[in-house]
Amino acid sequence: METIRESVRAKYADTAIKLRDGGSCCDPGCCAGSDALSGPIGQDEYSSADVADLGLSLGASLGCGNPTALAQLHPGEVVLDLGSGAGLDVLLSARRVSPGGHAYGVDMTDEMLALANENKARAGVENATFLKGTIEAIPLPPATVDVVISNCVINLAPDKRAVLSEAFRILKPGGRLAVSDMVEIEPLPPEVKAAVDAWAGCVAGTIPVEAYRDAVIAAGFQDLEVEVTNIFGPGEAGLPAGTGKIASAYVRAVKPAN
Ligand SMILES: C[S@@+](CC[C@H](N)C(=O)[O-])C[C@H]1O[C@@H](n2cnc3c(N)ncnc32)[C@H](O)[C@@H]1O
Repeated sequence: METIRESVRAKYADTAIKLRDGGSCCDPGCCAGSDALSGPIGQDEYSSADVADLGLSLGASLGCGNPTALAQLHPGEVVLDLGSGAGLDVLLSARRVSPGGHAYGVDMTDEMLALANENKARAGVENATFLKGTIEAIPLPPATVDVVISNCVINLAPDKRAVLSEAFRILKPGGRLAVSDMVEIEPLPPEVKAAVDAWAGCVAGTIPVEAYRDAVIAAGFQDLEVEVTNIFGPGEAGLPAGTGKIASAYVRAVKPAN
């Protein structure tokens, strides 16, 4: 597990440096990069006006959907983004929960945290904080967050159940989970599953939709909704020829109110 986490961290450190140097999500080395998913697959779900208003471009997104739209955020709420990357979803959330609310991002990669803090300063957003940590051990106390969002990150974690249990722990009773992620639709070839590069590129770490559902329910959530949005087969999205299909999906659930 540590080997996978270290290669994920190295990949996203490299990606952060590329983004900082003016690259975009379509350059090699991102979740949506050349050796894994090819091309941005969630960017058309953002309002370019909202993104431009932050002084950012859609190249700052390494995601596969827009969890900030899925979550229906309200002023005064506390939001946490798991694996916040360059910070786009945190900064958009911070605007939506203002006045009175706060948006946190947690990420394990120093280079991403530095980039997110630069983007925060550029956007002039004050009610956002980027925390260093892993999504398997979130550095926040229990029952402090109204909404947990995440964009194309949980697939990267070898222990998805640990991540979902942590999300459940830090949510207040009645709190919401709103996640955009990659899932497996048809089994991937064993050699793809074994490739650390494909793991870090959001391909090999995907689990079947049913296993994802089971992990969300096992963590204690209810009112689960899963919507598969785009399906990619062999030869698409960096998948090799042969067998296997993956997809982007939206996952929504609620922590019971008591
Ligand atoms: C595919 S990028 C997505 C970034 C962002 N959510 C977005 O949509 O642009 C994955 C991010 O998650 C972070 N990450 C991956 N696994 C993590 C873990 N186990 N704990 C904390 N951060 C993690 C990486 O450092 C990287 O910034």
